Amino acid sequence: LKKSSCLKLFSLMILFSLLFPVFDLLPSSSQRLNPAVLKPILTDPTLNEVYVISTFKLHTKSSATIFGLYSSTDNSKYFEFTVMGRLNKAILRYLKNDGKIHLVVFNNLQLADGRRHRVLLRLTNLQRGAGSVELYLDCTQVDSVHNLPRAFSGSSQSPDSIELRTFQRKAQVGIVPQSGRMDCPGSGNADREGAIKSYMSTPLSSVYWIASREFFPSWIIYQILLFHPVFPFPFLKVKETSFLRNTIAECQACGKLRRCDSNSCFRGVRCTDTRDGFQCGPCPEGYTGNGITCSDIDECKYHPCYPGVRCVNLAPGFRCEACPVGFTGPVVQGIGISFAKSNKQVCTDIDECRNGACVLNSICINTLGSYRCGPCKPGYTGDQTRGCRTERSCRNPELNPCSVNAQCIEERQGDVTCVDNCRYVPNSGQEDADGDGVGDACDEDADGDGILNEQDNCVLTHNVDQRNSDKDIFGDACDNCRNILNNDQKDTDGDGKGDACDDDMDGDGIKNILDNCPRVPNRDQRDKDGDGVGDACDSCPDVSNPNQSDVDNDLVGDSCDTNQDSDGDGHQDSTDNCPTVINSAQLDTDKDGIGDECDDDDDNDGIPDLVPPGPDNCRLVPNPAQEDRDGVGDICETDFDQDQVIDRIDVCPENAEVTLTDFRAYQTVVLDPEGDAQIDPNWVVLNQGMEIVQTMNSDPGLAVGYTAFNGVDFEGTFHVNTQTDDDYAGFIFGYQDSSSFYVVMWKQTEQTYWQATPFRAVAEPGIQLKAVKSKTGPGEHLRNSLWHTGDTSDQVRLLWKDSRNVGWKDKVSYRWFLQHRPQVGYIRVRFYEGSELVADSGVTIDTTMRGGRLGVFCFSQENIIWSNLKYRCNDTIPEDFQEFQTQNFDRLDS
Ligand SMILES: *[C@@H]1O[C@H](CO)[C@@H](O)[C@H](O)[C@H]1NC(C)=O
Ligand SMILES: *[C@@H]1O[C@H](CO)[C@@H](O)[C@H](O)[C@H]1NC(C)=O
Repeated sequence: LKKSSCLKLFSLMILFSLLFPVFDLLPSSSQRLNPAVLKPILTDPTLNEVYVISTFKLHTKSSATIFGLYSSTDNSKYFEFTVMGRLNKAILRYLKNDGKIHLVVFNNLQLADGRRHRVLLRLTNLQRGAGSVELYLDCTQVDSVHNLPRAFSGSSQSPDSIELRTFQRKAQVGIVPQSGRMDCPGSGNADREGAIKSYMSTPLSSVYWIASREFFPSWIIYQILLFHPVFPFPFLKVKETSFLRNTIAECQACGKLRRCDSNSCFRGVRCTDTRDGFQCGPCPEGYTGNGITCSDIDECKYHPCYPGVRCVNLAPGFRCEACPVGFTGPVVQGIGISFAKSNKQVCTDIDECRNGACVLNSICINTLGSYRCGPCKPGYTGDQTRGCRTERSCRNPELNPCSVNAQCIEERQGDVTCVDNCRYVPNSGQEDADGDGVGDACDEDADGDGILNEQDNCVLTHNVDQRNSDKDIFGDACDNCRNILNNDQKDTDGDGKGDACDDDMDGDGIKNILDNCPRVPNRDQRDKDGDGVGDACDSCPDVSNPNQSDVDNDLVGDSCDTNQDSDGDGHQDSTDNCPTVINSAQLDTDKDGIGDECDDDDDNDGIPDLVPPGPDNCRLVPNPAQEDRDGVGDICETDFDQDQVIDRIDVCPENAEVTLTDFRAYQTVVLDPEGDAQIDPNWVVLNQGMEIVQTMNSDPGLAVGYTAFNGVDFEGTFHVNTQTDDDYAGFIFGYQDSSSFYVVMWKQTEQTYWQATPFRAVAEPGIQLKAVKSKTGPGEHLRNSLWHTGDTSDQVRLLWKDSRNVGWKDKVSYRWFLQHRPQVGYIRVRFYEGSELVADSGVTIDTTMRGGRLGVFCFSQENIIWSNLKYRCNDTIPEDFQEFQTQNFDRLDS
C-alpha cells in the first residue's frame, strides 16, 4: 500500500470478526434497515469510503448472491455482490446516478470451493464520481477497478424502504447501536479490545454499521459491515487506529502486522518493511498499478506497428509481427508507452525485380509490397514457367539457328528437362505446389505465399490472409471442412469435402446416418447377420457384432476371431480360402470360394491350370478355346491377369487385385495404446500412395497397407529429415495382427528406454530384424520389447542385427531392399547408401508369419520419410536359398 492510502485509511475503518446482533433470529433472509444507517450511505455526498466485509463458505462451484440492498417496495437493486462459482467470477452491481445498474466484474476468483473466505470491498468516492473499488480476498488485494460511474445519489427511493438481503435462508442482521466486542480467537490483545469497545460506545448519531451473521445450523458464515467513515475517532490513540488500518487494509482481523513475504508485492516489485506494515515499490516497466497489483499496459493501443502488421501485446511489452509480404524491416519489440511511441515499426518495400523474381529476360514490374511478371522481353520466347530463351524461328532468318544447308523444322514440344527438384530430400512425386522449381519437400515456403511452411496454416496453398474460421490447423484456403474442426482432414470418397462435414462420406449416394457402412461404398446395403453393419464393412459378416471390436487389429472382429490358423498365413481356418495352403494374398480370381493357390482351375474355364487337357495358356482369364498364336494365350498376352495394367508395369502381373504400389489406404496400429509416454504417430501419404511421411515424435506405431502378400519384394528409400532425435524408424512386413509381424528397425544411438517398467529396455544402434509374436499385444510389454535390442520371451525375437552397430545418419537417404518368401520362410534385407551396400542380413529363415501385409514403423522419431515405395509380388525362391540350405545341411551332416 502506498503511504497516501494508508493515511486515508487512518481515519476510517474497522473490522469485526463477529458482531453481537441486537435483533433476534428472524426467519427471513431480508432485513429492514434503520434509515438512519442507510441515509448517509446512499445519499451523503461527503461519504468517500465504504467498507463491506463478508465471510462465507460456498459449496464447490456454486453461485450465490452474498448480500445486497434492495427496495422493499419494488425489489429494485441498490447494491449486490454475487459469486459465480463455476465461472470463477464475482460481480458487483450497483445503482448508478442515472437510475441504471452498473456491473463490476472480478475475474479469476476461487470463491466457491467449500472453504471459508473473507472478502473485503473497499469503495471510494462512489457517490462523487470517478470512484473505485478494491477487492481483497483472504488478506490480499486481488483486484481494483477505477473510474466507476456515480452511484445512488440520484435515487428517489427513501432509505426507509431499503432492505438488506443475504443468501442464507436464516441470516441474522443486526444493527449494533452502542456496544460490541471484538472476538478474536486466541487473541488477548487488551489494547485492541479496548479500542474496539470504546469505538463501539460512541454515540449512535456518529457511527453506523450493519452486521449480520449466520446463526445456525448452516456452516456458512456470513458477515457484513457497512461503515460510515466520516466519524473522526477522537478517542482512539494513534497506535490503535494504526492497528485498525492494518487490519482493514490487509484484511487480517486477528493477525499481526503483515511483513514482506514473497507474495506481498507484484512479482519483481521491491517490498520494504515499515512500522506500518509492508510497502511496495512502483510497478515494473510496462505495468501500471499500486505495486501490490500491477496490470499490463497494452502498448498496442499506441499503434507502434506498421499499418496492417499485427501488434501482439505481451506482459510486459509488445511485439510487432514481421513486415507484410513484399516488405522488409527490423523486428520491433519493446516495453512501455514511451518506447512504443518513439520506436514505431518501419517497413520498406522490397524490389523483387532486382532479386530476380521473374525469369531471366522477362519483363518485371515492381509494385508496393509485390511485383508482377510480364511476358518475355522482345526477341525472347517462352513464358514464366518455361523460361525466356532467344527466339528461334525457321521463318525469321536472323533467329534461325540452323545451318543454311540444313532443313529447319519447328517442333511444338519444348525441351524436356529431367532434374530432381529436391536433390537432398527424397520426394518421389516431385510435388511442387508453387511451381517454382523447388520441390515442396525442400521448399521452405512450398506455396510461395511468403509465409514459411512452419508458420503457414496452408503449406501447399497460397493464402496470405491465413484466415481460419474453425481454428483447426488448416486455414480456410486448404481446409476441406472450413467450419468444422477436423485436423485429420480425412476425406474417404476423395470428393474434396472432409468426412467431418460430408453427409455422405463414402459417396455411395446413401447419407451417413442411413448408411450401414458410412465409410465403405455399398449401395446394396447388404447385412447378412442383421447387426446394423453392412457386409462390406462388417468385421464379422456372419456373426452379429454391432460394436465391431477388434482388439488384435487383424480386421477380423473379436466375435468371430478364432485365431486358429493352421497354415500360418494370417487368415483363420474358418475364413481362409485355402486353409492348409499358405496364401496370405487370398487371391481367388474366379471368386468360387477356393483360393487360386489351392484351385485346380483358377479361372474356371474348364481347362485345368496344370494337368491335361491343360496347362491353361491363360491361367487367370477364361479362354476355353485356348486361342494362341505363339505359346501364350492371345487374350492374356500382354496383361496376364487382365486387370488393365500391362504386365510390364503391373506390380503383381498374376494378381488382378494388385496393380500399383499404393499406401493411400492404410490402417493405423498403435502399439502402446494405453501408455501416454508420447503421442500417437501422424502419417501423411504423398505421391499417389508411394510415399509416407511421419511428422510426430510419437509412441510406437504402424501404418499398414491393406494388401496382403504371399512372396513379396519390398523396397523404399528411408530418410530422417531432421537433426532432432536419434530414435527408431523402419518398416514392417508379414503383418497379420498387432501381435504378429516382422519389423526391420533402425536406431541411431544407444539408449535405455525412459520407462523402466515392465522391464529395463536397452536399444543399441544399428539395423535389426525382429519377429514380433506378442502374447500380450499392444501395450507397455510390447513397447519395451520393441525398444530392446535382443529377444524378449513371449514378445519379440531378434532374427538379425547389423554387427557394425552403426546408426542412421541425419538427413541421409538409404534404400532398402527386402525379399520375403513365406512359403519357405526366406527373409533377406539389404540397405544401400547411394550405390554402396551398407548392411545385409544374408539369408535368414523364419516361419513365424507365413505372409501378410506391408507397412512402415516408427518409435519416438519425428520427420521420417519413406519415399519411392515399391512392392512386387514375387514367389520365385532366390538362388541363395538353395546354397544356404545345402551349406546348413552340410553342417548338420558333418
Ligand atoms: C462388444 O460386444 C461383445 C458382444 O457382442 C462384447 O463381448 C464385448 O465386450 C464388446 N466390446 C466392447 C469393447 O464393447
Ligand atoms: C523375383 O525374385 C527373384 C529371386 O529373388 C529375382 O531374381 C527376380 O528378379 C524377381 N522378380 C522381379 C520381377 O523382380
